[in-house]
Amino acid sequence: MTDQTPPKETPLLDVTALYKLFAVGKPAARFKRPVKEWLQAAGPSPKLHAVDNVNFTIARGETMGLVGESGCGKSTLVRLLTRLLDPTDGSIRLNGEEIGQMPAKGFGSSPYRPRVQMVFQDATDSLNPRYTAFDAIADPINRLKPMPSADLAKRVAELADLCGLPQALLSRFPHQLSGGQKARVGIARAIAVDPELLILDEPTAALDVSVQVVILQLLDDLKQRLGMSYLFVSHDLNVVRLLCDRVMVMYLGKIVEIGPADSVFRNPRHPYTQALLSAIPHFEPGAASARIRLGGEPRSPIDPSPNVCRFMGRCPKSIAQCETAMPHLRPMAPGHEASCHLAEPDADLVKVIA
Ligand SMILES: Nc1ncnc2c1ncn2[C@@H]1O[C@H](COP(=O)(O)OP(=O)(O)OP(=O)(O)O)[C@@H](O)[C@H]1O
Ligand SMILES: [Mg+2]
Repeated sequence: MTDQTPPKETPLLDVTALYKLFAVGKPAARFKRPVKEWLQAAGPSPKLHAVDNVNFTIARGETMGLVGESGCGKSTLVRLLTRLLDPTDGSIRLNGEEIGQMPAKGFGSSPYRPRVQMVFQDATDSLNPRYTAFDAIADPINRLKPMPSADLAKRVAELADLCGLPQALLSRFPHQLSGGQKARVGIARAIAVDPELLILDEPTAALDVSVQVVILQLLDDLKQRLGMSYLFVSHDLNVVRLLCDRVMVMYLGKIVEIGPADSVFRNPRHPYTQALLSAIPHFEPGAASARIRLGGEPRSPIDPSPNVCRFMGRCPKSIAQCETAMPHLRPMAPGHEASCHLAEPDADLVKVIA
């Protein structure tokens, strides 16, 4: 780590050509052949492309949304960024400093650990049942930024206040707290070591709707007060629209569309984003008929062809070119890119490029 402050334009997070391939279906040693001989005969094991050449940045104070269907690679991407997983290839820079090459095992004790923190989907699963709320909030401080016990008690009380958790609840165990209260503990714990980037993987999915609203308001309020950046993973597009400055849409390991939330929601260019957005419930007459229903089967993420669009087979608009050339992200509007052969950029953008 250097002491120099990075130049202003350096993004807080800069992800370049990031890959995570999982080896799957390793052949078993059958028919009494020696394992080595069997593996040699079987050749290299197939690879599941969970994160496949992903590139994006997050600026300081920015909220980036990440949406996409189940299994598209959102949690794998999050686990790479929080360095719980080692990337197969690519670069992850925090404030201009490379953290992607550091082995995941050593990251827990590195000076970067406090700077990226995470709020998990289900606070019940992520809280230790033997820790009181106080212990849970104090735990990351003890591990990453230890302080004398009087200061620790003050800091935990301050964090509980910030997160709207009554002090009286600090002595309770997770099973003695409601879902909303546990979510507040999870958030207080994540912000305890002053992270610059907070990654939220479906933070409200396990909560009922009225509590969701309160927790989302809390997150928005904390962001304003503490100036953190968020990567907000969600299935709920309405929430992403409300909370996020920019949004990226992931499909089978690839970012297929990225841009300012306003621009993507107003004029989605990728057929997958169009289908996702058309599924948001509307109450206007006739809105139901505008819903795009995707048929077909998703392509396999195992050793996918580099020359075929990943959305092929489900795309209602596909043409012959989609089977011979993989589309790449192209500019569509200011800051807005999509990877579809048929997507048309804004007319003024075409003029600028020409
Ligand atoms: N350790 C692993 N070994 C092999 N495959 C894995 C592993 N972890 C994840 N995968 C696969 O990687 C792909 C992406 O999984 P991931 O959990 O990142 O999806 P997701 O977008 O978070 O889904 P969800 O919305 O359901 O949480 C899936 O096909 C999954 O089966
Ligand atoms: Mg997930």
